[in-house]
Amino acid sequence: LPGCSRASWSSRSSAFANAAADRVGQDASAPLVREDGPAELRVAARAVNAMRGRISEQIREREAMVAAIAHDLRTPLSRIAFRIDAAPDSLREPIQHDIDQMKAMITTTLSYVRGSSQNGQAESVDLSGLLSEIVASEQHVDRPVSWSGHEPQEDCKVRGDRIALGRMIQNLVDNAIAYGSQANIALEEKDAQARIVVADRGPGLPADEVEGMFAPFARKERSRNRETGGVGLGLAIARAIARDHGGEIQLGPRPGGGMEAVVTLPLVPA
Ligand SMILES: Nc1ncnc2c1ncn2[C@@H]1O[C@H](COP(=O)(O)OP(=O)(O)OP(=O)(O)O)[C@@H](O)[C@H]1O
Ligand SMILES: [Mg+2]
Repeated sequence: LPGCSRASWSSRSSAFANAAADRVGQDASAPLVREDGPAELRVAARAVNAMRGRISEQIREREAMVAAIAHDLRTPLSRIAFRIDAAPDSLREPIQHDIDQMKAMITTTLSYVRGSSQNGQAESVDLSGLLSEIVASEQHVDRPVSWSGHEPQEDCKVRGDRIALGRMIQNLVDNAIAYGSQANIALEEKDAQARIVVADRGPGLPADEVEGMFAPFARKERSRNRETGGVGLGLAIARAIARDHGGEIQLGPRPGGGMEAVVTLPLVPA
């Protein structure tokens, strides 16, 4: 631009590269940066695009590998399931239990790997209704899920995939129950955003470990074979869904003790 000094171009191109790299860092399938304009911008854009290409390629390779392993584990598992028919009764039940657990882990892993590269339907979703359904069905099977205040009466509309949003909330509820013995749900609207809080009364997590738990397969309790043992994908899936909907999830201490997961989602303007 006329009147623009070299120095300001330089700081602009680095701000531009930072913003673009930030976008690519969050979403490796983000649109390519246009490689035009002044030379410095073109160089920065080319570097960002090359980086994006490499990241996408690595992610694709790893996802394909995880999917292949998870998928192929089903065959020997089915063989074991077939063979335990011949095992004594005392063995059959615990082995069947382990097989069921492994199958559940495989299913979660596959849906994570496949889901992370798929976009669901976009429709208008009423979060009040969705949360009420989840609370009611949990209470129906005597799980410790309740409203923090009173059940929301007004519609609270966002745009997105109802099934995915339900899965996101369910994952947070499962965690609150597993690690904090109860789930207390709240929904409010603030600054054009819906805010869903899933709180518990557990010991929570040290502040410096919270962010790491969002990484796929991260668990504080390393074992994956205990009764409480999951795969470590619940939070990764939930955050991916929130971000797909233009929102975010944060985990932090609950005022007064316990832990809370806070989901923010952009509201559909009335
Ligand atoms: N409400 C919570 N309070 C304390 N720790 C939690 C809470 N929610 C999650 N965590 C910790 O974060 C880890 C990762 O959670 P995440 O939901 O991703 O996986 P998971 O529950 O272990 O397995 P799954 O794939 O079945 O959800 C948990 O193993 C647990 O250590
Ligand atoms: Mg979980």
